[in-house]
Amino acid sequence: MGPAGYTPSSMTSPMAVSPHVPPATECGRTDTSTSAGLQKPLIDVRNLVKHFPVTAGMFFSRRTGVVRAVDGVSFAIPKGATVGLVGESGCGKSTVARLLLRLIEPTSGEVWFGETELTKAPPEQMRRLRRDMQIVFQDPHSSLNPRRRVGEIIGRPLMIHGLANKRQATERVHELLSMVGLSPAMASRFPHEFSGGQRQRIGIARALALNPSFVVLDEPTSSLDVSVQAQILNLLNDLKAKLGLTYLFVSHNLSVVEYFCDLTLVMYLGKIVEAGPSDVLHAEPLHPYTKALMSAVLVPEVGQQRERIILTGEIPSPMNPPQGCRFHTRCPYAMDVCKAVEPALSEQAAGHQVACHLYQSR
Ligand SMILES: Nc1ncnc2c1ncn2[C@@H]1O[C@H](COP(=O)(O)OP(=O)(O)O)[C@@H](O)[C@H]1O
Ligand code: SF4
Ligand SMILES: [Mg+2]
Repeated sequence: MGPAGYTPSSMTSPMAVSPHVPPATECGRTDTSTSAGLQKPLIDVRNLVKHFPVTAGMFFSRRTGVVRAVDGVSFAIPKGATVGLVGESGCGKSTVARLLLRLIEPTSGEVWFGETELTKAPPEQMRRLRRDMQIVFQDPHSSLNPRRRVGEIIGRPLMIHGLANKRQATERVHELLSMVGLSPAMASRFPHEFSGGQRQRIGIARALALNPSFVVLDEPTSSLDVSVQAQILNLLNDLKAKLGLTYLFVSHNLSVVEYFCDLTLVMYLGKIVEAGPSDVLHAEPLHPYTKALMSAVLVPEVGQQRERIILTGEIPSPMNPPQGCRFHTRCPYAMDVCKAVEPALSEQAAGHQVACHLYQSR
């Protein structure tokens, strides 16, 4: 079941990811875009790594290790698609999201936005590109400045980029408020006067102010009630269709991702462990971790035989991830090889890839 009342209109997306996704390349890249009928990717991520240094000491801080938040991730987002990135808290989803928008610099790897490699774009080009890529944050309460009126919050990106005078900005704010289902008269109010769902609509309006083509949705409904979640997902779907947007949708909830996204990437401890068209991945999850995530959210239908894996144990520290397969400390199928050799992503069916020794010889 999807979220209450949510109609997955994205399932008729022109991206029709299903059987068209071509094989992975040598580096395990989930190439979703180059076969016949699909457009070139809008976003192309190649072997992306982000290690955060960990330091100790009050006055003479010394480096004591690194957090391997993202550890060699490759995937592509076709123009017009909604790609879901799913995994438990702390697995590196938000770090990937921030790297894609170059809000932080990668340790290594490349992020291509169309024809431009973002990590090498000079500041002036980056400033122009920033208009085209926006983010909606998880918590609309903390991401909206409580001291600014809603009109200022939504219109601010226009003023910062020098794209509108005051009158034009006001008109655009009114247009954006209507677009997200709020009254233009609400522009003069402060964020605390709104409900959680309304605040997230304001966050969405702000993200759309500059007419972006790519929007990262970082757990945009996680802090909302279930009924409100469905409304926001429907709004996001309508806006995507109307404005021709491309989304990266970050979530810890696999059932929401399945209904909202054309393609799903499952992440565990800084790595992508399974990737594929959402309907295929949902019908036949392969990686034991994906199965465990599904077991946590799915109530099997009557007569449906689905293997259930209950996750036990804590997620290991990304400062010291397990050798071999990073999931082996929690995997009910772990074999000796899993402790020594890291499995690479390999294709099992059209566009459906998994990194697990159980499937290496298939
Ligand atoms: N600025 C930072 N400095 C150090 N560690 C960080 C920083 N940002 C994130 N991390 C760590 O990186 C890992 C991944 O975090 P994050 O990307 O936020 O995961 P998720 O969004 O999946 O919950 C976590 O262990 C987190 O503590
Ligand atoms: S590689 Fe081994 S430990 Fe990792 S998920 Fe597969 S069976 Fe489990
Ligand atoms: Mg996060």
